[in-house]
Amino acid sequence: MGRRLLVTGGAGFIGANFVLYWLSRHPEDRVVVLDALTYAGNRASLAAVADDPRLRFVHGDIRDTETVEALLRTEAIDTLVHFAAESHVDRSIHGPDAFIDTNVGGTHALLKAARAVWLQGDGRPHRFHHVSTDEVYGSLGPEDPPFNERTRYAPNSPYAASKAASDHLVRAYHRTYGLQVTTSNCSNNYGPFQFPEKLIPLTLINVLEGREIPVYGDGRQVRDWLYVEDHCRGIEAVLDAGIPGETYNIGGCNEVRNLDLVRTLCRLLDARFEADPALARRHGRSPAARGEPAESLIRFVKDRPGHDRRYAIDAGKIARALGFRPIETFESGLRKTIDWYLEHESWWRSVLDGSYRHWLKTQYGGQFVND
Ligand code: NAD
Ligand code: TYD
Repeated sequence: MGRRLLVTGGAGFIGANFVLYWLSRHPEDRVVVLDALTYAGNRASLAAVADDPRLRFVHGDIRDTETVEALLRTEAIDTLVHFAAESHVDRSIHGPDAFIDTNVGGTHALLKAARAVWLQGDGRPHRFHHVSTDEVYGSLGPEDPPFNERTRYAPNSPYAASKAASDHLVRAYHRTYGLQVTTSNCSNNYGPFQFPEKLIPLTLINVLEGREIPVYGDGRQVRDWLYVEDHCRGIEAVLDAGIPGETYNIGGCNEVRNLDLVRTLCRLLDARFEADPALARRHGRSPAARGEPAESLIRFVKDRPGHDRRYAIDAGKIARALGFRPIETFESGLRKTIDWYLEHESWWRSVLDGSYRHWLKTQYGGQFVND
């Protein structure tokens, strides 16, 4: 008999990629998705498996402990993979409350439900896997060694602080009550289905739409980028062989400055437009349609307050303990991502709807929105 998973936030970027990955790799397993469908959740991201009898989608909130308890019981869930969160740093700066409610309160509601059903109920074998971020460790100087699992927590944004708090609660439920938990702290993800408020899809879509590309500050901040399917494989490795109570850092060993990343994306898109003249006809507002390079859209804008300078992950533990290493190189991952956004225009047009446009306008005063 296969595993029975509850995936929170399964209609978001990484959650949806995880559900698609898991169903394709684990034919015996059942997956129940619990997602509140905030602005970041999109059922269209699960369209490919919408008719799969192994998948059930539940529109609900992780903060609703009763609903979660009922799902854990009626679906006989043995594995909970917790992605649901408010995930965008800029939003957390403008409005931290939702981050505390969902990321801290929501994680605690899930832990309470898991404890009630798994520990105070039938005592069945279980796993609560918490998906977290490298941002809990704060910012590195240029010569600092990368974050490892023993690095002191020093979150700088309300988002990172809310994730740090949730990590501590997960740990406490293991130490105090014996809940079988694992946590993974991952670097910046990219790939299909990422909401276009994040740097890579924002850059790609702005080029296709001929909108300016906002680069915060001097653009010299460094992030470690991981292709999303590699993150899913890393979580799979932790679910299969990770030790309860342990945390695992997952990263791409791939540090890139923001400005270099944006320029690389621009050059890769220019090359695609040059190789395929139909693209300029389809994306008539793009600089390529006027014979200009995509880089002409780059604009340096005011820096993000508290902007972390550098993140880097030491992924040695998961490599040694679980034999996990990313498959994609940055180049192969970026090419796949660019292809995906070129081929799925209807997906990103559907998410660039009223609420997101409204947010862009309030954030940037209409600078990056063409009506
Ligand atoms: P996302 O914003 O794309 O998706 C979040 C999903 O959670 C959405 O589907 C949303 O509807 C759902 N959700 C939000 N609040 C909810 C609630 N109260 N109840 C139920 N569902 C709710 O986020 P993502 O980028 O896919 O990130 C997923 C997880 O991975 C998060 O926990 C994030 O902290 C972590 N993470 C993300 C990255 C990254 O680069 N994106 C890196 C490391 C870790
Ligand atoms: P983001 O994708 O928001 O992820 P995070 O803040 O979690 O790392 O941003 C990645 C980097 O890109 C970060 O240093 C902020 C920067 N950035 C810009 O320069 N311009 C933008 O429009 C966005 C969204 C991000």
